[in-house]
Amino acid sequence: MKFFLDTANIEEIKQAHAWGVIDGVTTNPSLVAKEGGDLVERIYQICQIVEGPVSAETVATDWEGMVREGRLLAQISEHVVVKVPLTVDGIRATRILADDGIDVNVTLCFQAAQALVAAKAGAAYISPFMGRLDDISSDGTRLIEEIVQIYANYPELGTEVLAASIRHPMHVTQTALAGADVCTLPFSTLRKLVNHPLTDSGLKSFLDDWAGVPDPDVAGQVERWLAARSGD
Ligand code: G3P
Repeated sequence: MKFFLDTANIEEIKQAHAWGVIDGVTTNPSLVAKEGGDLVERIYQICQIVEGPVSAETVATDWEGMVREGRLLAQISEHVVVKVPLTVDGIRATRILADDGIDVNVTLCFQAAQALVAAKAGAAYISPFMGRLDDISSDGTRLIEEIVQIYANYPELGTEVLAASIRHPMHVTQTALAGADVCTLPFSTLRKLVNHPLTDSGLKSFLDDWAGVPDPDVAGQVERWLAARSGD
């Protein structure tokens, strides 16, 4: 499964990219506005850092405006994926942009039938918002499972399931079990994926026990062992 980082914060992207586990980035108008709204230069910088798919969202609501904005956004970098909302105009714009050879991420998906329409319009990615469904006591995981199953039934569709609106590590696990192609997650959630209290306590007990050996310097031990055998 690919991991995309769901943020427009350059520092978070640099930190996550250094881990070597990030395959792309998704942004949306709220995430970019939170960083000050300098969309174009920010998207360009992000593309330079991750060198993978970077979603930049249109803000027009009419298909003509989405197509105009999308064609311009796509010129920022070869890595730009144009994000449009799953509306009638968004679907129409998706078809036009896809026929232009521009990758489109259709966002704000909340039911499987929407995902089928987006795929038929040529979307490169569909973004079902599982967290916002869970937030209202609906089943976000079920939505991911349905879309994965529908797309598997029709492999000619070619759209990737990009699980979005991720709230916590269990969402990541659930999307992976469901077979999503991509999970886009906030940096805070990425950090939580790694952390576990039993890992921390287990490491502490290893190190406490090791501290009691005569020579706890592993590197030094190996270097001396190698030096003693250099003449073998
Ligand atoms: O960026 C798309 C999506 O991941 C936003 O999720 O619900 O946390 O705003 P949310």
